Amino acid sequence: MDQFKGLVLSGGKGTRLRPLTFTTAKQLIPVANRPILSYVFGHLGEGGIKDTVVIIAPETGEDVKAFLKDGSKWGMELTYVYQDKPAGLAHAVKIAQPFLRDCPFVMYLGDNLLQEGIQEGMEIFKREKADAVIFLKEVPDPRAFGVAVLDGQGKVQRLIEKPKEPPSNLALVGVYIFSPKIHKAIEKIKPSWRGELEITDAIQELLNSGGKIYPKIVEGWWLDTGKKDDLLEANTIVLDTYAKRQIEGEVINTSISGRVQIEKGAVVRDSTIRGPAILGEGSQVENSFIGPYTSIGNGCTLKHVDIEHSVILENSFLENVERIEDSVVGRQARIKGHDKHRALRLMVGDYSEVEL
Ligand code: DAU
Repeated sequence: MDQFKGLVLSGGKGTRLRPLTFTTAKQLIPVANRPILSYVFGHLGEGGIKDTVVIIAPETGEDVKAFLKDGSKWGMELTYVYQDKPAGLAHAVKIAQPFLRDCPFVMYLGDNLLQEGIQEGMEIFKREKADAVIFLKEVPDPRAFGVAVLDGQGKVQRLIEKPKEPPSNLALVGVYIFSPKIHKAIEKIKPSWRGELEITDAIQELLNSGGKIYPKIVEGWWLDTGKKDDLLEANTIVLDTYAKRQIEGEVINTSISGRVQIEKGAVVRDSTIRGPAILGEGSQVENSFIGPYTSIGNGCTLKHVDIEHSVILENSFLENVERIEDSVVGRQARIKGHDKHRALRLMVGDYSEVEL
C-alpha cells in the first residue's frame, strides 16, 4: 500500500468564534497555550505521516503558514493549497487531489481537538482494506454534526449531515481516512442546501457504490472549539490532561501549588498560583492570584489581578482587576481597573469582549 498522506483543513471563516477570529484563524486559537493545529500535527506525526497538504483561506492563510512553516517541527513536508472560498469539506479534498494523487490519506479538520490519535483508525483501515474509516463519537445532541447510523454488526449503513431529527447519537468527528476512491465519489455529489460540497454526502456516495466503510468509535474526549464556552471547556480539559509541574521561569516570593507550568523568561513575584495553570514565555505576574484552569499566553502582564478559569491570549495587559473568571481575552488587549474598585475603566484591544 502507498504511504499515507495527510490533509489538514485550515480554511473556512470561523464566524462563530468572533471576535477572536476577526484577527486570526480559528485553527490557531491556543488551548493551554498551544494552537489547536499543533495538536493536529502531533497526531499526524505520531501516525507516521511525512507528507501533508494544508488547505488555507486567503484571509488567514498567511498566519497559518507563519505558524506551521515548512512542517519540519513535526518531521513533515507540507504543501499549501489556497481555497478561495469555503465551498465545503469535499471541495477541499477536490483541490488537494493533484497533490494527494492516488495515495490513501488521513483528513483532519484543523479545528478539532481529540484526546486520542489516529493510529487505531489507520490499523482498521489497513486490516480491513477499507475505502474509508470514519471517526465517530456518541454525543447528547448531534444536530450540529454529521451523523452516522450503524447496523447491529457495527457496519456503517447511512450518513446524514446536520439532521434536524438525528437518526442516531453518533456524530462524525472531524477525522477521516480515505482510499483514493473518495475522489470519484466527490465527482458525483452536488452542493447541499448550504451551498457546500459535503464530505458526508461523498462518503454516502462511496457507500452506495459498494465502498467499504468502517467506523472508529472515539473513546477519549473530542472537543469542539467553536464558541467561547467550548474554548474554555477545551482549555480546562486539556490542562487537566497535559499540564505538569514545570517551572522554567523565575519565581519570587510566590506560593505555587499543583501542576503549574511557568515557561522560560516568565517572572512571577508576590503572587499565588494554583494549578492546573500555565504561564507563557516572557509573561510578568505581580501581586496576583492565578487560579485553576487558567492559561496566560506569552508576553502577558498581570498586576494586582485575581483570575481563574480563563484564557488570556498573548501580549495582553491586565492591571487592578478584582476578579476575572470564565473569560477569554484576545491578543494585545488592555484591561485596567482602578485600585481594585468595582468601577473599572476599561481599555480593551480591538475586537475583544469584556464581561464584568
Ligand atoms: O467537527 C466535525 C464536523 O465538521 C462534522 O461532524 C461534520 O459532518 C462536518 O461537515 C464538519 O462540520 P462543520 O460545519 O462544523 O465544519 P466547519 O465548516 O466548521 O469546517 C471544519 C473545518 O474545515 C474548519 O477548520 C474549517 C475548515 N474548512 C471548512 C470548509 C467548509 C475548510 O478548510 N474549507 C471549507 O470549505
